[in-house]
Amino acid sequence: MSKIFKISKKIDDFNKSIEVSGDKSLSIRWVLFSAIANGISKAKNLLLSEDVIAAIKAVRTLGIKVKIKNNSCNIEGKGIDGLKFKKNLEIDAKNSGTLARLILGLLINTPYKIKIVGDKSLSKRDFKRIADPLEKFGAKFTLNNNRGLPLTILGTKNLKPIKYFEKRGSAQCKSAVIFAGLKTSGKTFIKAKKSRNHTELLCKYLSLPLKVKNKKNYDLIEINKAKIIKPLSYKIPSDISSSAFFIVLTALSKNSHLLIKNVNINPSRKGIITILKKMGVKIFLKKIRNYKGELISNIFVKSSKNIKSINCPTKLNSGAIDEFLIIFLVAAKANGISYFKDLSELNQKESPRLVWGAKILNLMGVKTITTNDSIKIFGNPKLEINKKIIIKNYLKDHRVFMTSVIAALSFGGEWQIHDEDSINTSFPSFLKIINQLKK
Ligand code: S3P
Repeated sequence: MSKIFKISKKIDDFNKSIEVSGDKSLSIRWVLFSAIANGISKAKNLLLSEDVIAAIKAVRTLGIKVKIKNNSCNIEGKGIDGLKFKKNLEIDAKNSGTLARLILGLLINTPYKIKIVGDKSLSKRDFKRIADPLEKFGAKFTLNNNRGLPLTILGTKNLKPIKYFEKRGSAQCKSAVIFAGLKTSGKTFIKAKKSRNHTELLCKYLSLPLKVKNKKNYDLIEINKAKIIKPLSYKIPSDISSSAFFIVLTALSKNSHLLIKNVNINPSRKGIITILKKMGVKIFLKKIRNYKGELISNIFVKSSKNIKSINCPTKLNSGAIDEFLIIFLVAAKANGISYFKDLSELNQKESPRLVWGAKILNLMGVKTITTNDSIKIFGNPKLEINKKIIIKNYLKDHRVFMTSVIAALSFGGEWQIHDEDSINTSFPSFLKIINQLKK
């Protein structure tokens, strides 16, 4: 049985500088792009969490050599059509929706059925959303209950380019179709609701045949078949989604200061910064620079008194989609009622996160009103917890675990948070960094 993490003391004030681990979205994309590049790609600071290790195993299953030594990783890519498809291959994506969905774009021409499996949480998630567009290229899918994992994909040699309207704001669906488009002769078109654009930026950096027109609410993307893909040497910047826990811990403390170094602040990912600034959190971006098409900066944050409630503009949703659980803790301490809406996608994550957000807040004694796509949070600037709280059976959602730890360190109470190993999905050093702040 996995370990129960117990906390019964708030964290004392701190004044520190930290560096969190590499970005998960970029790490998985680097592995996949490197597998189809022509030659050896090298990464430093690759996130070696379970999701990324699953990606490495997946490309190894497809005949790609990967070497990991200390903090660096080399992948010997075999070109856009160089993946080795054999009979009876199975890929275990573990907890990773990003891996399971993106890799399907690269399997679009497999002549043998490939099976994709995942853990309990991933097996509950929706794969019809990606099977539907990929079938239009000519692939065939079988989905468990016509919806999820385990699934099989059978590709085709006769790929047809497609027109695809991505309406949910899912970067995973958009990126899988981009990968399939890079394997297909002819023009593939995507009209995509705004979502993180790492795949497009990497294509641009690699000079691949992809064009993007940014419209107000959508992006129009045109993709052609890739020929040669340059190997990609990359130092993965730190993950804003992992930084988010420490940003909030600092903001909620009495008198702390924190500098987080080298964080990826891609505009399509930094919704949390905009939202927290609107709520009165003192947060500053320092030394903003461009690294191979991605923006990086140091983030400086201070304890913030007088936190204001927010009626969160829906246009900020996609850029903060992985951060809402932790943002809800800030709303719990705000002066007034905060409102977050149009968030049905939150219930499609590793756990139904809108449901879990409300559950954690209610256990903390915070009043909420939820629907299936919105939450109102009744904030209390004097919030203190004096009771026992047990968090369990949350499908090992790493972000539920880490949000609960930050709640315990910020508001007190006697917490027992089950399944400590959930952090290994995205942020294995999370508890080590907490200890660093305590010293
Ligand atoms: C991701 C996209 C988002 C996000 C996930 C990572 C990616 O998912 O929630 O954690 O790397 O493309 P959706 O595409 O389902 O919105």
